[in-house]
Amino acid sequence: KKHIEEAKVFSPKTPAELEAFRIQYLGKKGILNDLFVAFKSVPNEEKKDFGQILNELKTIVNDKVTSYKAAFENTNTTQSETDLTRPGEPFELGSRHPINSVKNRIVEIFSRIGFTLSDGPEIEDDWHNFTALNLPEYHPARDMQDTFFIEQSPDVVLRTHTSSVQIRYMENNEPPIRILSPGRVYRNEAISARSHMMFHQIEGLYIDKDVSFADLRQTLSYFTEALFGKSKIRLRPSYFPFTEPSAEVDVYWGLETETDYRMTKGTGWLEIMGCGMVDPNVLKNVNIDPEEYTGFAFGMGIERIALLLYQIGDIRMYTENDIRFLEQFKSEL
Ligand code: PHE
Repeated sequence: KKHIEEAKVFSPKTPAELEAFRIQYLGKKGILNDLFVAFKSVPNEEKKDFGQILNELKTIVNDKVTSYKAAFENTNTTQSETDLTRPGEPFELGSRHPINSVKNRIVEIFSRIGFTLSDGPEIEDDWHNFTALNLPEYHPARDMQDTFFIEQSPDVVLRTHTSSVQIRYMENNEPPIRILSPGRVYRNEAISARSHMMFHQIEGLYIDKDVSFADLRQTLSYFTEALFGKSKIRLRPSYFPFTEPSAEVDVYWGLETETDYRMTKGTGWLEIMGCGMVDPNVLKNVNIDPEEYTGFAFGMGIERIALLLYQIGDIRMYTENDIRFLEQFKSEL
């Protein structure tokens, strides 16, 4: 009975321990053999009980030996025998973020006609974000862009558009100027499917002698053809303090599919950006003579352009980092 208790709690950690246990019980000079020899001299009336205990012990020991043997063999193959013929672990490649790839496409299209990149700070002073752009203090048009203020009087803000970069560039460079300024911008708006407090813009500026509204229109038509494959655009009169005249640009998307109807609310036209001829006051603010130079500017939200290109339904998806969303752009360069 003592042997039964011992055998029951036995748990070997190595195959060698198991082998020692096997020999101790089942070997020629082992415990079981000894007991079987002793069995012969047990009085007849005790033989039945003794025999039962003996058989029980034998079963327990045999079970232990077979089950641990199998367990050790299993761990052997997975842990220490490396199978060099197995295929490797799959190698997961990331994908470019849709905002990034659309930005790159737009930059590439304008670089073909001589635009270069320029950037500036996201935390901006009042002069570059507002005043130099013909938005003096207390001008009601400041309310067009709900602003995050970091400090007040003098104001320091999170830039509301990348037009601030154009001011910086004009302050430090002589015309001719042909720049694109992509970057993050911030507006104090509630987050919803259509708007966000942080988004990306790409703005363009062209200043030279004799730049006309026709040049602006032709440049935009070249752009929409290159990006969307659609060159039919219309310019609707609008208002921006830094441009005069100003316009919203609509691209004719067509009404060929159900989606076209839904996207364009049945009109076929989609608004994609704002634009205009740079206001003479802006040029004066950066010491460029408006009698000698003219220019145009335009600005668009990259999120919005990407929504159109990929038919994305909700602007919040860009920042949720949902792998299922991001994985869909794996084929993008
Ligand atoms: N800065 C404008 C905006 O953020 C866009 C724009 C740029 C409009 C240049 C006209 C010219 O809304």
